Amino acid sequence: MRVLVTGGAGFIGSHFVRRLVAGGDSVVVLDKLTYAGNPANLEGIEHEFVHGDIADPVAVATATAGCAAIVNFAAETHVDRSILGPMEFVHTDVLGTMCLLEAARETDARFVQVSTDEVYGDLEAGGRAQEGDPLRPSSPYSAAKAGGDLQVLAYVRTYGVHASITRGANTYGPNQYPEKLVPLFTTNAMEGEPLPVYGDGKQVREWLHAEDHCAGIELVLREGAPGEVYNVGGEDHENIEITHRILELTGADPSLVRHVEDRAGHDRRYALDDSKLRALGWQPQHSFGEGGLPATVDWYRDNRSWWEPIKSGAYRAYYDEQYANRLKA
Ligand code: NAD
Ligand code: DAU
Repeated sequence: MRVLVTGGAGFIGSHFVRRLVAGGDSVVVLDKLTYAGNPANLEGIEHEFVHGDIADPVAVATATAGCAAIVNFAAETHVDRSILGPMEFVHTDVLGTMCLLEAARETDARFVQVSTDEVYGDLEAGGRAQEGDPLRPSSPYSAAKAGGDLQVLAYVRTYGVHASITRGANTYGPNQYPEKLVPLFTTNAMEGEPLPVYGDGKQVREWLHAEDHCAGIELVLREGAPGEVYNVGGEDHENIEITHRILELTGADPSLVRHVEDRAGHDRRYALDDSKLRALGWQPQHSFGEGGLPATVDWYRDNRSWWEPIKSGAYRAYYDEQYANRLKA
């Protein structure tokens, strides 16, 4: 099958491209190469590349030509950046998604929207979000993703587009841009920089390896039903527990841990009921604590040439805006 993978130069998208190509599919990547897009993530993987914006109908028409399916990973993805500047999130995560849906409508391509557990919002202790639950997004990022999801469901019902949605948990693994918890804290620990824990650090997230996440998305691409949503869950851990595990794995000094001003609107807990995807045959292969996190830390240790150049220039400006005052306080 010829598949369009948007956002294929990013973290999870590049794992997905590798997976499809290894399985014999041919892949076209459409990517704007924002700060988070990195051609190095696709090195050595055979693919066609279209440099463009998913919100640009001309770029989308070029990229979709001859494709039987579109899998949409392209998004602005970082909650903290959405708090600093939300507009770009609506451009890509809502309007961009709609532009791709228009292409799917025209070409009859199968469509998979890669969404997030954050659309369900904060969960009470003990509860797990199911696919039919109401959407209660808290951040400009999760609100934009929820907007994209609702458009997908509207295009299924109104125009008969063959589209499904996956809602994945916090994903970790090699090639993740060092702004998110695991790669930020791992690379900071390796550089002897502070690890800025928001608030008390007792927030709970589910952790899902990128390869397991991609296996779930591929299953939905092949076997998912139109109009259906599939949660892709992970393992629950508190942020502070992960922070201490990263210190252990890197051998960094525990005094690097700094409790700083909390993220605005910070959700306390996410948890997914993923039994629907498991019923299709999905099962995660990576355990976070046992193998997944140690192997990821090893990857960052062995691939300094991948992340060191990123942590300068525009990254530094973002980092200072986000953390300088927090770390001074
Ligand atoms: P990422 O930030 O690493 O990469 C995003 C990619 O999209 C980059 O290559 C970027 O250049 C590209 N992009 C951004 N705007 C674009 C535009 N307008 N047109 C074309 N390309 C554009 O993202 P990620 O963490 O790999 O996430 C991929 C998808 O998975 C996103 O849709 C995200 O919402 C979803 N998701 C991520 C996680 C996670 O923990 N990282 C968890 C659940 C769901
Ligand atoms: O849950 C899925 C989502 O996971 C995806 O949809 C998003 O694209 C992805 O970025 C991720 O969102 P989070 O906000 O949960 O990820 P992040 O790594 O930014 O934060 C994880 C937790 O760690 C969260 O509770 C905030 C906390 N944190 C994060 C950073 C960057 C800190 O305490 N300090 C930090 O510096």
